[in-house]
Amino acid sequence: MIGFIDSGIGGLSVLKEVEKLNLGESLIYLKDSKNSPYGNKSYKKIYRIIESDVKDLIGIGCKIIVIACNTATAVCITKLRSKFKDVTFVGTEPNINSPIRDEKQNILVLCTSATKKHCEHLKNAPNNVLVYPLKNFAKAIDNGKTINYKKMFMGIDPLIYDAVVLGCTHYIFRLNELKVIFKNATFYASHTGVAKRVKDLYNIKNFENGESN
Ligand code: DGL
Repeated sequence: MIGFIDSGIGGLSVLKEVEKLNLGESLIYLKDSKNSPYGNKSYKKIYRIIESDVKDLIGIGCKIIVIACNTATAVCITKLRSKFKDVTFVGTEPNINSPIRDEKQNILVLCTSATKKHCEHLKNAPNNVLVYPLKNFAKAIDNGKTINYKKMFMGIDPLIYDAVVLGCTHYIFRLNELKVIFKNATFYASHTGVAKRVKDLYNIKNFENGESN
């Protein structure tokens, strides 16, 4: 069984991609609405929440756990991997490599406040990268709210960006609206890459167990 964790609907984008791969394995989604949103919480609190979710998924037999959330991955995955050694964890990170490979000049990374703090290394990128935290966007998406994008992106000129990285799994659910604002940008998400990684690790695990897929 493969488990998925996110604070709301965001991780469903990852689960849907894995579903398309027809692994022949049960998939279970832990939608942690009770603790949503993760992005504005302290690292300590986020870790405590995710560890408890992970234990629940292990308890029902998950051998592979997909942290289908950039925030939880940034804050927790290293510790989870060292604590739960029998479990294979797959994380979700902002897909920054693709726009760099595509030689995009002005890259905007949209993510939560907690994820932003883990993006320091992007300062060394050869491109112009701006990591832009959005405080309540994920929650508003979960609640189906109308967004005041003018207010949300006040202070930046959307037309200068030729790449926008969706650094939170929720944001893809508003892709059409974001495309209207960032008219000159190519959008980069992580869900397909994460799904591919799940498939690769699933096959390796099956191979190790002497089963073929
Ligand atoms: N989908 C989560 C992420 O990718 C949402 C974070 C939140 O709950 O604030 O970061």
